Amino acid sequence: MSQALHPMLNIAIKAARAAGAIINRASLDIERLTVTAKSHNDFVTEVDKAAEDAIIATILEAYPGHGILAEESGREHGARHSDYVWIIDPLDGTTNFIHGFPVYAVSIALSFRGQIQQAVVYDPARNDLFYASKGKGAYMNDRRIRVSKRTRMLDCLIGTGFPFRKGDNFQRYLKMFEEVMVQCAGVRRPGAAALDLCYVAAGFYDGFFETGLSPWDIAAGSLMITEAGGLVGNFTGEPDFLYQREIVAGNPRIYGQLVKTLAPYTRVIKEDPKADAELEADDGESDPEDDALIQQLQAAEDAAQAEKQAAEPEAAKPQRKRITAAAKAQEDRDAAEREPKRPGRPARRDDAPF
Ligand code: IPD
Ligand code: CA
Ligand code: CA
Repeated sequence: MSQALHPMLNIAIKAARAAGAIINRASLDIERLTVTAKSHNDFVTEVDKAAEDAIIATILEAYPGHGILAEESGREHGARHSDYVWIIDPLDGTTNFIHGFPVYAVSIALSFRGQIQQAVVYDPARNDLFYASKGKGAYMNDRRIRVSKRTRMLDCLIGTGFPFRKGDNFQRYLKMFEEVMVQCAGVRRPGAAALDLCYVAAGFYDGFFETGLSPWDIAAGSLMITEAGGLVGNFTGEPDFLYQREIVAGNPRIYGQLVKTLAPYTRVIKEDPKADAELEADDGESDPEDDALIQQLQAAEDAAQAEKQAAEPEAAKPQRKRITAAAKAQEDRDAAEREPKRPGRPARRDDAPF
């Protein structure tokens, strides 16, 4: 990156590297790990906790007035009502880590009034550092990254995550998986969602989808994608996906095609009551504890947003709007019409609406 990094991004990088050092040290002797199951198939080790402590200590030393939302300690640390909230996954890919499968990462995002502003994902096994500041682009090891340019699904490599918790709806997932798999060139499931999203940002994958993820899995990776020229949203293409347990991402064209495929499987917006009833019929139970936590986080976020909106003049209030492929294309056309024509300047291919 040619310009100096934002000071808050620098702190995030420092915190991620400190956590990475703890993880790398522990990876030399995984036999000694103490593994605890938070719930069926959902593991935590003392390394997750030590890495989280190191991240929180680094952040609060620099910004004692900021809030913290961390996977292992929730909102226990930091200020409760700050506009700034650091969203932390100290070790994304714990199951891989426990097995010595070298695909895991530290994920740290900073949200300001609900918008992700800074993001770091650090892969300590490869020493790959991904980072982004809102409006300043996304980088991997100091090299600017951009989403891929592939436009045909049949050429695309798509990342995903398999459901694995008790109560996850495997049947529903298998239907989506099949629909995506038959359209594309290959599907991958490495096992660390934060890295999956960075791989979309870097153009290694053309798209990604998963259900059941929490804000700390996706907050940092999502900024990486938008700063790399990609799109990220829920299965119906709306941008408020952070607390919604479903995410789709990709370069703009592939995102549009994935939304088309996945929209019928959304748990967020129900468009066709008949199709929905069919999906609900084979719906598994969800984990009540997990769902309660996410609902609490969403409620806290909604309350903060409502407070902020109440303080704003009517005209400035955002309207709830879907960023579907078609809506985005219409927006792009409207914007192009509003824009004064500059003769002699060729249109960039990747500006084309999808
Ligand atoms: C997990 C990873 C995995 C995803 C799971 C997450 P954790 O995070 O991101 O890829 O499929 O849903 O829980 O628990 O290892 O931090
Ligand atoms: Ca995670
Ligand atoms: Ca984790």
